[in-house]
Amino acid sequence: MPSPGRNPRGDFNVSTFAIAQETASISLAEAVVHEARIGLTASPKTLSPWLFYDEAGSAFFEQITELPEYYPTRTERGIFTAHAAEILRVAAASSRLTLVELGAGTATKTGILLAEAVRQQGSVVYQPVDVSESALVAARENILAHIPGVVVRGQVADYTREALPLDRLPGVRALALYIGSSIGNFMPAEARGVLGNLRSQLLPGDMLLLGTDLQPGPHKSEARLLAAYDDAAGVTAAFNRNVLARLNRDLGADFDLDGFRHQVLWNQRDSRIEMHLKSLAAQKVFLPANAAGPALTISFAAGETIHTENSYKFTPASVRELLGDSGFAPVRTWSDPEELFAVTLASAF
Ligand code: AVI
Repeated sequence: MPSPGRNPRGDFNVSTFAIAQETASISLAEAVVHEARIGLTASPKTLSPWLFYDEAGSAFFEQITELPEYYPTRTERGIFTAHAAEILRVAAASSRLTLVELGAGTATKTGILLAEAVRQQGSVVYQPVDVSESALVAARENILAHIPGVVVRGQVADYTREALPLDRLPGVRALALYIGSSIGNFMPAEARGVLGNLRSQLLPGDMLLLGTDLQPGPHKSEARLLAAYDDAAGVTAAFNRNVLARLNRDLGADFDLDGFRHQVLWNQRDSRIEMHLKSLAAQKVFLPANAAGPALTISFAAGETIHTENSYKFTPASVRELLGDSGFAPVRTWSDPEELFAVTLASAF
């Protein structure tokens, strides 16, 4: 999922965090302030999706992955369950593998692949990378408790920009996992930047396993796709609105959470789900002065939105194009019977 510095934004302003980071090391709190001030004074107003993932937002996201309407997580897990043996055999092609996971979080789905790697090669070195140290600690504990034979070497890093000092042994091929359709939260050019950065850390012949959510098709109506982002229990709405609660807490802003409605759109032209927060009335929001600048009053017209997330949906052809542009040659794709989701194995060239 998105993290500071990744800027997986649609038509969003580019790289406040990255620019600030070039001149000084900036804290998460400072990054939040920068993102909010720039996004809320832009036209149209935007907030970068990495802002969702404070503690409450991460808990809402975990709940989303269990919702009946939110098919991506369980569908991808089903693909792994059905095809892990084959995925790892094709990826390894008789070498040993080390598994590297970008944005690993607590690594819940990865267990299926790790257990299979241990079955095939006796043991495996697993290198999860995430900006959250606490998530890496949870991943490590969870894996060590449940899958003997896995050696966990986690790294706290922003994989979108930083070098990943991978642990390599001669003759061991890296299999990078970028799953959960996290790549879909980036603009196309940014997605190429993320995969290109990964590619620059790999050797020719190393592999990438990429999870991508697919466009509407014969078994996936637009309504089903929209429902995945606008569930009946209102969890995604709470996840979306939580960003305003975060800004109230972290910036001392005074957003009235009831003054904004969760809005989801399918943008067919750009092949993406968009999440917005729609102002229900004309209103003003106050942002106090801070180190990043003077106090600001942000005015909203009735019906005006803050664009908070894009979630791109792919076709087999658009996945191939993305991979090819980023230095990877597609090897093989696995999907579910309804063709909701795809998992593509690609080789670094
Ligand atoms: C993390 N990411 C892949 C999720 C998605 O589907 O784009 C984030 C999410 N937003 C709303 N629901 C889930």
